[in-house]
Amino acid sequence: MAITFNETTRIFTLTTAHTTYQMQADAQGYLLHLYYGARTAGEMDYLLNYGDRGFSGNPNSAGSDRTYSLDALPQEYPSLGTGDFRNYALNIENADGSQCCNPVYITHEIAAGKYTLKGLPFVRAEENEAETLKIILEDPVTKVELHLLYGVLEKEDIITRSVIIKNAGKAPVTVKKAQSACLDFLHGDYDLIKFYGRHAMERNMERMPVSHESTRIGSRRGTSSHQYNPGVILAGKNTNEDSGSCYGMLFVYSGNFLVEAEKDQYDQTRIQMGLTDELFAYPLEAGAEFTAPEVILSYTNKGLSRLSQQYHHCIMNHICQGKYVHANRPVLINSWEAAYFDFTGDTIVELAKEAKALGIDMVVMDDGWFGKRNSDNCSLGDWKVNEEKITGGLKHLVDEVNKIGLQFGIWFEPEMISPDSDLYRAHPDWAIQIQGREATQSRNQYVLDFSRPEVRDYAYECVASVLRSANIAYVKWDMNRHLTDLGSAYLDRKNQNELSHRYVLGLYQVMETLTERFPQVLFESCSSGGGRFDAGMLYYMPQTWTSDNTDAVCRLKIQHGTSFLFPTVTMGAHVSACPNHQVGRTTPLATRFAVAAAGNLGYELDLKKLLKEEKKEVREQIAEYKRRRRTVQFGTYYRLADSFQENQSAWNIVSEDGMEVIFTHVQILARSAYRVPVIRLKGLDPDAVYTDCETGQEYGGDELMYAGIRIPRIRQDFSSTTMVLRKS
Ligand code: GLA
Repeated sequence: MAITFNETTRIFTLTTAHTTYQMQADAQGYLLHLYYGARTAGEMDYLLNYGDRGFSGNPNSAGSDRTYSLDALPQEYPSLGTGDFRNYALNIENADGSQCCNPVYITHEIAAGKYTLKGLPFVRAEENEAETLKIILEDPVTKVELHLLYGVLEKEDIITRSVIIKNAGKAPVTVKKAQSACLDFLHGDYDLIKFYGRHAMERNMERMPVSHESTRIGSRRGTSSHQYNPGVILAGKNTNEDSGSCYGMLFVYSGNFLVEAEKDQYDQTRIQMGLTDELFAYPLEAGAEFTAPEVILSYTNKGLSRLSQQYHHCIMNHICQGKYVHANRPVLINSWEAAYFDFTGDTIVELAKEAKALGIDMVVMDDGWFGKRNSDNCSLGDWKVNEEKITGGLKHLVDEVNKIGLQFGIWFEPEMISPDSDLYRAHPDWAIQIQGREATQSRNQYVLDFSRPEVRDYAYECVASVLRSANIAYVKWDMNRHLTDLGSAYLDRKNQNELSHRYVLGLYQVMETLTERFPQVLFESCSSGGGRFDAGMLYYMPQTWTSDNTDAVCRLKIQHGTSFLFPTVTMGAHVSACPNHQVGRTTPLATRFAVAAAGNLGYELDLKKLLKEEKKEVREQIAEYKRRRRTVQFGTYYRLADSFQENQSAWNIVSEDGMEVIFTHVQILARSAYRVPVIRLKGLDPDAVYTDCETGQEYGGDELMYAGIRIPRIRQDFSSTTMVLRKS
């Protein structure tokens, strides 16, 4: 049993292979958090300490006991207005205007299998892979109920959390804040690891101590954003890649979010994750309910690499779905950096011919194929092929590409509307904007109001009709601006604050229908690169364009940061031309490949412009990638060196069966008279012998892991070394 309840002590224990999560419905009825960490056998309510503390009030039910205070006790789901002055998970505004909810334990249910969530993405599991605990708390005055949901995936060391808030009373209330998970720690000093960034430089890792202040990160942009990823790690002070305690929190959601971390007056740590309370208010009539999106929790005391692998496994096996999840992903050529808007059908056919000769599987026609789209100033919403550019129409082009022997993929940005579009001229009220104000523009476009059913239907049909019209194997689903001027011509006045969330729910509905009805299509999500790289999008679309920055050196950091929570198979990574279009850097073709080959490989450059020897090199790269694609895409990933800290980056990937190991090292700047790096590999069998496939040299697994590999000295900036090892 992964979930147990002790009737006498009223302690709930959630157990996974290596972790224990424990809480107690105490004598007052409050649900207190007792422990989350390495697996234990006992009950840990002895950890709770009570004391008469000034200015930390006592709930009325405690009577004259001045030692019982919610301001000091660890809680599962803290609520505003009950005497806990720390960050709170819940704020309910009642019909009388007061802001208070005092949830106490009523009952619970334990069931086989994992709960699901209506209209939201979630961790999926078979009946025998998970158990569910539902704890019902209730406010005795308003009868608002909280259904706290816990999904326990025992083998995976994963615990999921979500909350359904149900207005079981008679008067309307408004949910003003509803986080999905809170973790309270009585002891310990922690660092918060977060992944911040910007367009074309996403998921930079930053590690900061949690101190006596409230740290808030999140998004109010309507998407999960380039600026902060909705995934964080709370790590012990001495935790590193290989050892120490760390807790992950990953939000399965693609819109606004909030993470709050705080060390309180008694040096206790609280961390929470969920929807942001800004731009948000959800009225609940009597009988109505609200579901908070899911958070995936995971813990290990074996360091950050292990934590990452637990998330990789969970995402690959329990978030992503569909025919491509465990299938080798195609090597593609994308037209964006090859031609931008300046192409015709012939350009795509030429690209396909060149690509075929190099061994590429698929050509993707990016932005510019529809309406009058010759720049990014117009036509979003007018998803009809531009026959002046694509002579003979889309089907004709796709057939031509298929005849060459390549699959065909296409770009869409279905959530958008250009002011200069037939769609906007016909339906200006379909754009998100506030009546009577000129809306903010961004890339000369507005966002469609996906809270509105006819808008969703339109967006769906635009994509679906194109997919029905030709043999399309892949869709890149893009999203290139954030939400501002939050106003909906569709929603009532009192529901306007729901817009950001309803937008995301609307998006999920469209993606759900589309991916269900076109199961043969491989979908890749994108938001100006990795602006929506989150578990919510991955639930519908099993890969994401990692960044608009294709420079190999910048990508070292971007992919390193991304790897903390997301597996390689989800990361689109392309070899592009030099000087690089984003940063102007020239890097060797071999290094561009070495870096892109640590993800879902593609090319994004004008193949015609490659020199003869470069074409030969690319042909060999692709053949090599295809030989080791299974390992790259589905193997176990280890970070070995960190370009945030060092003049190098390195990683190794061990195949599913342990027989193949790919090791890559990238030196950033060449230096004179320097110490030659030695890198220790990870995840190998110390008793096995590994052979370098190129040189035939044999190494013991113990040598490779404990002594390491000496990186050859290369007198060149941005050089790389890759070794493929076979275990014998
Ligand atoms: C975004 C994407 C790019 C490309 C352009 C097209 O920036 O991230 O890859 O598709 O849009 O406009």
